[in-house]
Amino acid sequence: MKQSKTAAEKISTIAKALLEWFSAHARDLPWRRTADPYAVWVSEIMLQQTQVKTVIPYWVRWMRQLPTLEHLAQAESETLHKLWEGLGYYSRVRNLQKAAILIQRDHRGVFPHDFAAMLELPGIGRYTAGAIASIAFNEPRPILDGNVIRVLTRQFGIGENPRDRAANDRLWGLATELVTAAARTSLEIAPRAASSFNQSLMELGALVCTPKQPQCGVCPVREDCVARREDRVAELPNLPARAQVTARHFVAFALEHQGRYLVRQRPADVVNAQLWEFPNAEFVITSRPPTSAAATRAVFGVDLPAAQRLCTIKHSITRFRMTLEAYQINLTSPAPPGFAGEWHNLAELDELPFPGAHRKIYAALCQAKLKAPARRPKTPNRASRNPAGPRSRKPAKD
Ligand code: ADE
Repeated sequence: MKQSKTAAEKISTIAKALLEWFSAHARDLPWRRTADPYAVWVSEIMLQQTQVKTVIPYWVRWMRQLPTLEHLAQAESETLHKLWEGLGYYSRVRNLQKAAILIQRDHRGVFPHDFAAMLELPGIGRYTAGAIASIAFNEPRPILDGNVIRVLTRQFGIGENPRDRAANDRLWGLATELVTAAARTSLEIAPRAASSFNQSLMELGALVCTPKQPQCGVCPVREDCVARREDRVAELPNLPARAQVTARHFVAFALEHQGRYLVRQRPADVVNAQLWEFPNAEFVITSRPPTSAAATRAVFGVDLPAAQRLCTIKHSITRFRMTLEAYQINLTSPAPPGFAGEWHNLAELDELPFPGAHRKIYAALCQAKLKAPARRPKTPNRASRNPAGPRSRKPAKD
């Protein structure tokens, strides 16, 4: 009769099986071609809350533009926000720069090897420090994120809520035992075993041990999987129900005057801080959405000429399902004074960082321009170029 494995044997079997599987099946992701801690750090911050396929072009562009920590520390805030435009959760990019400045001040510009020093940096918690320490420095430090929680709760049949203290401690403990066992394997199996092992856990969660329709038939650790043996794969991980979805409605205006549009920068202490946006307001919809006239009064405090519908944008942030109705208004007479913001043409707007939804309004404006019959261009004088007054911003190329 087959003897069942001891706990230590099971750990060692899983570690080896995942290392072998990873060497054959790892995706060729651009940040996997380097062990530069700066590059790994940037990838891990981008990959928080964002899918791999979305991150790839952002990471490539970032590394081209800011190849070293020094470049990041010295970059303009607007450059950073532009490089992050569309990824969301913009505090991530601000924390990256704060941390780069601290590394210059406290570590002579060299990304710290020391785990405790990593944890001192803004935006770096236990998971990210573990990922950088293992991937860049090949240290046997554990990682535990959503993918790894799914793999481990299924593999070890953990039915408790993984966010509860005891279950969470147990999961961190298993992740530690596994990466430690992996690091003990011979160099022939995996030359950078701690690095490869942690990435194999992430990869298994992303490609095989998925939330829906997991591919158990091709899983390299299916023999030892408790959830599979007990037919509990669909039940695990046992996460609490998600917060209820809430609908929110916004109206935004592309207010045009002689080819320039009014935009404003969001203040420092709000969501999407420092990004630019078209004037907008949120409406609590009880029965019908507001008319565009009611919306212009709410947004600008005055009645404006008739608005044309531009586009409807739907997007989600956490539990909120947002609908944004965008209108275009062409002002033929000079704009009333007192609108807070700046007036920019389409080329200038393209240089500014916008949240994803407002970037879509910009795209709709460009589309509408392409469809509109061509008008003879008038050479604007300085006053009419910027009816709201002189701009502090350096004008971009027309
Ligand atoms: N998710 C989080 N970190 C990752 C990485 N380094 N590679 C792929 N997916 C990830």
